[in-house]
Amino acid sequence: MKLGFWHKMTVTIPAALEERGSALLVALGAQGVWVEEAGEQVHLNVFFPESVSVADAEGLIQGAFVALLPEKLEIRSERLPEEEWQTAWQTHSIPIQQIGEKLVIVPPWEKNRLIASNRKVIVLSPGMAFGTGTHATTHNCLVMLEKAVLKVGEGRLLDVGTGSGILAIAAAKLGVRHITATEIDPVALAVAQENAKANRVVSKMIFRASIPAHSRYNCLLANLTSSVLLELSERLTQAVLPGGTLVLSGMLKGAHEAVLARFQTACTLIQLKEKDNWVSLFMQKK
Ligand SMILES: C[S@@+](CC[C@H](N)C(=O)[O-])C[C@H]1O[C@@H](n2cnc3c(N)ncnc32)[C@H](O)[C@@H]1O
Repeated sequence: MKLGFWHKMTVTIPAALEERGSALLVALGAQGVWVEEAGEQVHLNVFFPESVSVADAEGLIQGAFVALLPEKLEIRSERLPEEEWQTAWQTHSIPIQQIGEKLVIVPPWEKNRLIASNRKVIVLSPGMAFGTGTHATTHNCLVMLEKAVLKVGEGRLLDVGTGSGILAIAAAKLGVRHITATEIDPVALAVAQENAKANRVVSKMIFRASIPAHSRYNCLLANLTSSVLLELSERLTQAVLPGGTLVLSGMLKGAHEAVLARFQTACTLIQLKEKDNWVSLFMQKK
């Protein structure tokens, strides 16, 4: 197959206008926008096929941004072979993320850059599963997981709705020895298994489609939705040993109140964390 060329156009605007600028570019037909932070500014990178001339693309962008920024925009352009364009996109679809005090997430193509890191490195391929660490709900879970592992030690952990496997892999890297990860989506489960293998922690994990009926855990992670948390509340609390910890996430602010009330019958709230309108709860079973 013959690969074509693409124009990578980089628009630099004040960081405060990131969301509105990205929306304008998407409306112009850009195939996704990836954002690089640069202090008070952001670089918005977009790709146009070679069939659109640079002059036309610049004209379109300048025209679209007039209402947002009165002064002339700074736009850079670069011609990339298709293959490189795909790689450039991929490189930025999972940024290197230092999370909490001990973890760092990297895409596979960046892992050699972190050989000397004193953090626990999680190598993650996005695949077709949720969980790259960039979403507030996953981020909160990872921060709370560090605390949960400190509190209950390195015993047994259940990750309900593992997605890409990110939380289960993080738990293994933090020292948890026995991890059960459940997932109802078979595609996500396959991605999670691949990621666990790539991180050399697969021997610590059991993957399942459902929560085991009779096992009890020191720690439970459940980044789901408010309605699924409510639906599964009894199963989830039953699965945790007295004194064990629960990290519940995936609730939109407001909807979290019903979940908190339900779980408070069997658990005590240790911490509530809010990020980007998403709420996560760190609780301890009574
Ligand atoms: C928001 S994602 C969380 C992924 C990952 N754990 C993270 O924190 O980024 C929720 C995942 O739970 C799965 N899921 C939804 N309901 C479930 C259930 N009842 N049992 C197991 N998994 C479920 C979904 O398929 C999805 O992969």
